This record gives sequence, C-alpha cells and structure tokens, in this order.
Amino acid sequence: IPVDPFDLVIFGGTGDLARRKILPSLYRRFLAGQMPEESRIIGAARTEISVEEYRAMARDSITEFVPSSKRDAASLTAFIDHLRYVAIDATGTQGWQELREEMREGMVHAFYFSVAPSLFGAIAERLHEHGIADGNSRIVVEKPFGKDLKTARALNATLAEHFTEQQIYRIDHYLGKETVQNLMAIRFANILFEPLWKTEYIDHVQITVAETVAVDGRGAYYDTSGAMRDMVQNHLMQLLCLIAMEPPYHFDPDAVRDEKLKVIRALEPVRPEDIVRGQYAPKNGKAGYRDDAGNPDSRTESYIALKVGIANWRWKGTPFYLRTGKRLRARTSEIAIYFRRPPHSIFDDPEGGRENVLVIRLQPNEGINLKVMIKEPGPGGMRLTQVPLDMSFAQALGPDGSDIPDAYERLIMDVIRGNQTLFMRGDEVEAAWAWADPIIEGWETRQERPHAYEPGTSGPEDALMLLHRDGRRWREIK
Ligand code: BG6
Repeated sequence: IPVDPFDLVIFGGTGDLARRKILPSLYRRFLAGQMPEESRIIGAARTEISVEEYRAMARDSITEFVPSSKRDAASLTAFIDHLRYVAIDATGTQGWQELREEMREGMVHAFYFSVAPSLFGAIAERLHEHGIADGNSRIVVEKPFGKDLKTARALNATLAEHFTEQQIYRIDHYLGKETVQNLMAIRFANILFEPLWKTEYIDHVQITVAETVAVDGRGAYYDTSGAMRDMVQNHLMQLLCLIAMEPPYHFDPDAVRDEKLKVIRALEPVRPEDIVRGQYAPKNGKAGYRDDAGNPDSRTESYIALKVGIANWRWKGTPFYLRTGKRLRARTSEIAIYFRRPPHSIFDDPEGGRENVLVIRLQPNEGINLKVMIKEPGPGGMRLTQVPLDMSFAQALGPDGSDIPDAYERLIMDVIRGNQTLFMRGDEVEAAWAWADPIIEGWETRQERPHAYEPGTSGPEDALMLLHRDGRRWREIK
C-alpha cells in the first residue's frame, strides 16, 4: 500500500546510519512500490558536496548494503533520481533557506535527526525559525535517547519546545522487527496463550539477545554506555514490555504505549546480587574488550544478565531473566516462556512432570517452538518424551516468510503514515531510565568490576549461578 507523497529530510544524510540503514531501506520500499513517484529524500549535512556526489554516495551505499539479488541497476537509477542534497550548518545560518525551498506544499514533511543529540535543539530551532517545520511536520530521533533520566528529560524538554509529542518519533529499531511485532499478534490474536499468561502458569521468562560481534569501531561510544544502556534500557525493555503488558483495548499508539508504561513502572528495583556483568577477554591474539574500547582500565560491561521482578497481580512471583552480550557463542535473540510443571503426574515416568516451554525466536531463523510431552513410541509401557512443535516463519509463510523487511523499512514508512504505535513515547523512555539509573549508580558507587569471560562462550560463569541458585537453567545459546 503506497503511503502519501513525502519530503523526507535526513540530517546527518552522509553519516553511517543514513548509508547503512536509512537509504537502503528507502530503496527497498521504493522497489516494493510503496514510495510515491513525487516523493523526495533530501540529504542534509555539513559537507559541501553536490547533488551528483550525494547520489553517487547513496548508490554506493545501497550497492554495499542491499544484497545483489534484491536490487537492479534500472530501479536504483530511478530511486536515486528522488534524492536531493543541501549542505547545511546545523548551528549556523548556511543552507536553511535552500532547504526551505526544497520543501513542497501538500507533501508529508518528515525530518530525520540522524545526528548527535547535542544538535537536536539547534536543528529544531532553525526548522521553526526558517518556517520549514510546522504543526504537521514529523521528526524522527534515534537512540541513545539520553544516558540517564536527567539527560533524557532534558532532550524531551528541548524537543517539546518546538514539537508536540504526536510529532515526535523515537526509534527503537527492535520494535520494527517483524518478529517483535509478532509478539503482539501471538498474544492478542490467539485465545490459546492469554489464559495461561500469568504467574499461576508461568514459572519464569528468559530474554536473550546474544551477539557475536565485538565493539570494535565504536568503542569510544560503547565505553560510556555498556550493555545496560546500549541494549537493556531500550531493546530488552521493549521485549519485556510486550511479553508482560496487559492487552491494550485497541492496536492504537497510545493504548499500546500506556500498557507498556505500566509495566515499566511496576518493575521492582534490582538487587546487586541479581546482576552479573561481564567483559570479554582477549583470545588467540584477538583483542579483548578493553583493547577494543581503548581503555585499559575500563569497568564497562559488554555482557549483562539480570533478574527482574514485576510487582503486579499478573507477574508477582515470576522472574524475568534478561541477558545480552557481545562476542558470545552465537547471534541469537529469543524469548523463552517456561510454564510451571503439571500439579500432579499420573505417570510413573519422571518425565511426566516436565514443564512446557514456548520459545519465540526473534532472529535468526524466526519462528515459534513449543515444547510438549508425548508418549515415546513403542510397546514398552508409558514412557514420555519432550518434542518440539516447531514453526519456522520462513516455512510456514513460503517465500514471503524468509524475505523479512528490515526494521527501518517498516519504521520509516510508519513515520510517513503518521503511526506512532511502534515508537517510544517520552514518558516511556523516562520511566525506563528511572528504573535503570539506580542500578547503574549502584555498581558505579561500589566501583564494581565486570567478570572477564572468554569470547565464543555464553558469557561469564557467574551468570549461570543467577539461575542455578533458583533451581533453573539458562537455555543454551546456539
Ligand atoms: C544497537 C546497539 O542498538 O543494536 C548495538 O547499539 C547492537 O550495540 C544492535 O549491536 C543490535 O541490533 P540487531 O538488530 O543486530 O539485533
């Protein structure tokens, strides 16, 4: 379904995100026929280059980041035609008049702030000063949205000086992932799960986002952030919310975000003994975290596992164990719901008392797997065994199932459509920081050092204990 014609301005139009994600995603939407012919994409950055040079850069980026089976020369040329470029000084006067002239009446106007947050205020101000933005314009901002509650509040306040909340699209790219959206479909379009979706039937939940990549190349940013700020406060928090929230009355932006906010507010403070932080060590000549970060004395975590409680009627007594880290054994993101054991087994076989587990695989090999008990075949009596009811989206949906659009494709189109459901509201971000801040402050005041872990493993040994001592086990990372 095509969206309304638009003028999309990308501040930071020559930057890494524009090259890797924004331009390739727009190209793919163009290929899918979703981008109306009249639409324009206007790169804006400090560099003095011509439109031709900008187009050449965009062509190179798309060639690099879109697989050759998913692009062709003719459509690429047609897409590139939609690009414009304005050299602009975010904090000065240069380029703003020119940008104003690029914006056409009757188009959806969207401004992507793909720049350092310190420039948000200056850009917002100039957009208004020069009459470029008005009450109908939309702005898109990226993480990191602050580094704590104080800075997030300040950013929200800066943006609020010029734009209403309905105009602000805060990206958490996890919400744009197909399978993450599927969490809501699975929960709220099936009668099967919801009656069991509570502490009476769910023993615990495990949320894992494991990566094999290191932090090399972005060590300077990462060392001021760490896994808690980089992944938990945003991406894992969103996953937790989608699993834990009450059914919204409608699939409507504020209805969904109100429910997520309630979950975040109900999170219990995390005790220091319920947190394990790790740092990958050097191995076989490959740099360790501290080398990658360029900080030989760094206390920043590249891995974190924590046990989180939610203090409400639905979840009190069901811990959520979260973990994420770099340079682990495999790249895998999944949510595993461990149900409670049957209250009584009528079978002599001890297996009869085992729990069901629902695993939702977010990436790669997106799908759902439900572990159920069946009788082992054969005449040897009532022996039980656990088997997976396994559904891979790629198989179930055919060719369309494996061609999963990038999160940014969905999110950028939602901005043009004016749909905020998959974007974070200001109060949500602040609540997440309000929860994370004391946790981070805790280890900073105690001057805690993360445990070293060997790259290619599932993280520090101590993280195993977090579950062992509760009589539980992490799922294997594979
Ligand atoms: C980003 C983090 O937000 O998400 C990165 O800053 C991380 O550190 C990335 O690697 C993971 O995203 P994905 O889509 O690869 O799971």
